[in-house]
Amino acid sequence: MADVTDSAFRALLATYGKPDVTWTEFVSADGLYHTREKAKMPDEENPLMRDLAFTEGERPIVAQLFSSDSKTMAYAAQLVARLGFDGIDINMGCPDRAIERQGCGSAMIKTPKVAQEIVASAKSAGLPVSVKTRVGYSKESLDEWLPALFAAGPDAVTLHLRTRKEMSLVPANWGLMQKAVALRDALAPEVLLLGNGDVTNLDDARAKARASGADGVMIGRGMFGNPWVFAGRTREDISLGEKLAALTKLAHAFESLRPAKNFSILKKHIKAFVTGFDGAAELRAALMATENAVQLESKAQAFLATSA
Ligand SMILES: Cc1cc2nc3c(=O)[nH]c(=O)nc-3n(C[C@H](O)[C@H](O)[C@H](O)COP(=O)(O)O)c2cc1C
Repeated sequence: MADVTDSAFRALLATYGKPDVTWTEFVSADGLYHTREKAKMPDEENPLMRDLAFTEGERPIVAQLFSSDSKTMAYAAQLVARLGFDGIDINMGCPDRAIERQGCGSAMIKTPKVAQEIVASAKSAGLPVSVKTRVGYSKESLDEWLPALFAAGPDAVTLHLRTRKEMSLVPANWGLMQKAVALRDALAPEVLLLGNGDVTNLDDARAKARASGADGVMIGRGMFGNPWVFAGRTREDISLGEKLAALTKLAHAFESLRPAKNFSILKKHIKAFVTGFDGAAELRAALMATENAVQLESKAQAFLATSA
């Protein structure tokens, strides 16, 4: 997830409860390729390579890429393979206009031939390839879209159970997962099918997988403020001390692992961790105003000292 599951947050996940598979934030294959070409630099000096840094504790780890250009996708796929990733995921679900204007993200649902070419170029690197997509563009179109995807031979498909038009404005339609599973069983039984949307805890994930026949579940926002989610914990059973310790750890990791990134990116996490207790609003405002991890830690410690 962009600006969420960066290497700093993934380090928290690796510590508190690792998922069976971890995906990186989405990374532009065009960006990787053209930045290197323009500066005529070796891959290692490309500043965008920082988005592809990971540690062994995060394995199995899959790099999520996007592009509608087979050449840049093939380049990025080779790069990702060389970096030692365990797989490549292609984003075909992002509704952001800037991404769609490049023919990427959800726009791929409207250009199945291009989508197939992109899967083929990603596969040329020899790693397992998955696709993350939605159930349709303006309306649900699994009957057309899934067969087109399966024909490209991905190893796995993750379905965000909403259309592009629905953005995240309506509840995810888990009723559609059964239909997707039936299509998969008939057309491409070897392809793993994962469901995604609105799952906040492991019990819910397991129940939804059982009910729908999905091979797995991807949890996104359920990780916000709860890096223990994959260890089976819910937000309600995490103490204030644990939340603030995790946030502090995240802030320090963010500074050391993502030094070029603006500290304000952490605001999403501050909002998610600092909620649901007396004084949360005041503490949230105070932490939002901090500019570095040391400041954040001292404000969090001071709050804990007064609330004990
Ligand atoms: C802040 C944010 C960033 C996201 N970034 C990505 C991304 O980089 N790649 C991706 O496939 N999906 C991305 N998504 C979508 C999520 O992966 C997921 O499909 C969606 O939030 C629904 O699932 P959830 O209810 O489990 O969060 C993002 C969502 C949010 C809220």
